[in-house]
Amino acid sequence: PAPTAWLHHPAAPITAGLAARRHASHKGSFGDVLVIGGQGLQAGAAMQGAAILAASAALHHGAGRVFLHLLDHGQLQQLPQTPEIMLRNQVTALAQLPSSTVVCGCGGGSSVAALLPKVLEHSARLLLDADALNAIAADAMLRQRLKNRGPAGLPTVLTPHPLEAARLLNSSVPAVQADRLAAAHTLANTLDCTVLLKGSGSIIASPGEVPHINPTGNALLATGGTGDVLAGMVAARWASMPNGMHRQAHHAACAGAYAHGAIADGWPAQRPLTAQALARTLARAC
Ligand code: APR
Ligand code: MG
Repeated sequence: PAPTAWLHHPAAPITAGLAARRHASHKGSFGDVLVIGGQGLQAGAAMQGAAILAASAALHHGAGRVFLHLLDHGQLQQLPQTPEIMLRNQVTALAQLPSSTVVCGCGGGSSVAALLPKVLEHSARLLLDADALNAIAADAMLRQRLKNRGPAGLPTVLTPHPLEAARLLNSSVPAVQADRLAAAHTLANTLDCTVLLKGSGSIIASPGEVPHINPTGNALLATGGTGDVLAGMVAARWASMPNGMHRQAHHAACAGAYAHGAIADGWPAQRPLTAQALARTLARAC
């Protein structure tokens, strides 16, 4: 199926695609993605896989360089399966916020909240997922800091699933699902962000943009970790764009969601699709 509204926008890219690799380009041409998340077992439940999946998806979708700050990194110096991903401690990660497309929250657990004030203030381009969204829903000060970003020219993409959206709206999952377009539109306008409301028929809404309903994707995606992969796929596209402003955030979210669903649509229907395979596979539409 052809992608809908956003493709016809004069400023839109013509595919769900990755940035063209021009002859004289270099890794700086495609941008840095920095993933912050992945709490460790010390917090009771390790979720480092979520952050690693997001970083891995950004890598396989063309980011120039990918950095990862695990909230509990232990002695880990390198990821054996993906040595391209560079691990960063907290000090170094925070220093890279202004020059990166930052993905924050995947598998973050409760420890992500402590970093959010700095992340919200200093990240040039910021995608918030999962526990970063839950932390903002629970804390009025963080919510205000998020709202301050838009007017300061710092664009943000939120990628809530319906429960995360309900928490942010102080609403319920049935209410969100009863009018998904309205839920995404309200969140986008009250928080001055691009909102990618996930689920069957993901919605992308941004202040001043025509909302988009993503036409790709299927229930093969209903497995843990695919949301983290989406975050990395959107971030890689956004990082490669010449500036991070709101319209580009909207287009990156549309293109990432389209490619994410297209990979699942091209996958054999009887064969389960793992998040790791999703992160590493490119569909023709990508
Ligand atoms: N049709 C189309 N797309 C789907 C479908 C479907 N039936 N089911 C899921 N998806 C897509 C969503 O649109 C989204 O892009 O798969 C992705 C799922 O993302 P999340 O809901 O964020 O799930 P994920 O984070 O990968 O894993 C679930 O999140 O809330 C936590 O604790 C929870 O451990 C759980 C984890
Ligand atoms: Mg998720």
